[in-house]
Amino acid sequence: MSNASSSRRNIIVVGAQWGDEGKAKVVDMLAEYAHVVIRSQGGCNAGHTVKFNGETFKFHHLPSGLLYEEKLCVIGSGVVIAPEILAKELEDIHGKGYSTKNLKISDRCHITLPYHIEQDKRQEMIRSAGEGSSKIGTTGRGIGPTYMDKVGRLGLRTGDLLEDVAVLKAQIERIVVEKGFFAAASVDYLLNVCLDYKKILAPYICDTVELLQDALAAKQQLLFEGAQGTLLDVDFGTYPYVTSSNATAGGACTGTGVGPSKIDATLGVMKAYLTRVGEGPFPTEDLGDVGDILGDRGQEWGTTTGRKRRTGWFDGVVAKYSVEVNGLDAIALTKLDVLDTFKEVKLAVGYRHKETGAMVSRFPASLHTLATLEPVFETMAGWESDTTEITNYDDLPETCKAYITRLEEVCGCPVWMVSVGPDRQQTLIRQHPFG
Ligand code: IMP
Repeated sequence: MSNASSSRRNIIVVGAQWGDEGKAKVVDMLAEYAHVVIRSQGGCNAGHTVKFNGETFKFHHLPSGLLYEEKLCVIGSGVVIAPEILAKELEDIHGKGYSTKNLKISDRCHITLPYHIEQDKRQEMIRSAGEGSSKIGTTGRGIGPTYMDKVGRLGLRTGDLLEDVAVLKAQIERIVVEKGFFAAASVDYLLNVCLDYKKILAPYICDTVELLQDALAAKQQLLFEGAQGTLLDVDFGTYPYVTSSNATAGGACTGTGVGPSKIDATLGVMKAYLTRVGEGPFPTEDLGDVGDILGDRGQEWGTTTGRKRRTGWFDGVVAKYSVEVNGLDAIALTKLDVLDTFKEVKLAVGYRHKETGAMVSRFPASLHTLATLEPVFETMAGWESDTTEITNYDDLPETCKAYITRLEEVCGCPVWMVSVGPDRQQTLIRQHPFG
C-alpha cells in the first residue's frame, strides 16, 4: 500500500447510471491506496464481481477491499443485511483461504427477516397481475420491505442481536404485535431465526462510527464504495422503478456517520454505453442490433439475478444529471473497449419532445414527461481497433479520444480514469483520485 500522503484522502465512488457500471473494479484498484473501505447503503441486491489473484469472487454485502488483508472493511449503518446470504459470502472467502478478521459490521444495520423476502415477492406478484403490469423487477431479496420497516420504526438492527435474549424477545414481540402477525408462534420462530443470525454476525458487529472517527483522526484514507446507481436512488432515480436506498453520494455520509465536510472527492463510475436491469424507463435503450452487440461484447448479465441487462448508447442527459446530484469531481469511464468494433458511435446530447420537437436538456422527475421525450443522438466516428492492450491514455486512437472529450463536454465533468478491460492493468489513469 502507498503511504504517500495525498491531498485527497477520503473518496466516494458512486454508480452514476442504473447500476452495474463496473464500480467493483474501480474500488478494487483504489482500495490499494486506502486504509478503510466502506459500504454505506443497499444490501445483497448488489452484486460486485471482484477478480483477485486469478480467482473470481461475487460479493453482495462485502466491501470490495476485503481481499486485501491489511485493510479495514466496514459495512456501515445504511446497509441492510441478509445474514444467510452474508454467511455464504463468508464461507466462500474462508473456503478460498482468505481471512475476514478485518470485517466490521455496524451495530446499526437493519436486518432482512424471512417475512421481508416474502413481502417483496408478494408485492411483485401483485404488481404483475392484471393488465398494465407495474412490476419493478426487484431482485426479490427483501430490500424494499427491510427499508420500509426501518423507516417505519419496526426494524430489527444488528445491535439488537447482541442484547440479552429477554431484551431481544421483547423487541421481536413489539414488532410482531405492531405488524399484526399471529403473535405466539411468530415470536418464538423469529427469536430462533435471530439467534441463528447472531451466530453468523456477532463476531463482526461493533460501533463502526467510533472506528471511522478514529480512522479520520489518524488521517487514514477512506474509500466509500457505492452500490446500485444514481438513477436507482430512491429520491433522485426513476421512481418508482428504483431501489429503496440513497445510491447517490449523500448516502455515503448518512449510511456511515462520516460528515460531508470530511469528503475530498466524489468519483462517478459510468459505462461508455448504458445498461439497466429490471423494469422502468431507459430513453436510449436499443432493442436492435446495436443493443445485442453491446450486450454480447459487454457480457451484460446480472451478477445477483443472472438476468439479461437492457442496453443502449450513452445518455448525456442522465450523465449530466448524475454529475449534478452527486456533485461529481470526476468520471471513471468503464468498458470503453466494448465499443471497439463499431464503425460509428453515438451519444445522446439532449432529449426532444416527440410531438412538438421542443428540445429538453434536463432529466425530468415525471415518468409521464419522460415518456413524451426521445433522445437526440450525436454520431461520431468509431475507432474500429482493439483498445484492450493500451496502457497509456495518449495512445488511444484519436477518434476514441474525441469521443471521450465530447462526453466530458456533455457531462460537464472530466474523465480521470478509463477502463479498457476487466484486469487492473487495463486501466488508463489520467489523474489519480487519491492524488
Ligand atoms: P431491489 O433493490 O431489489 O428492490 O430492486 C429495485 C430495482 O433496482 C430493480 O430494478 C433492480 O433490478 C434494481 N437493482 C437493485 N440492485 C441493483 C444492482 O446492484 N445493479 C443493478 N440494478 C439493481
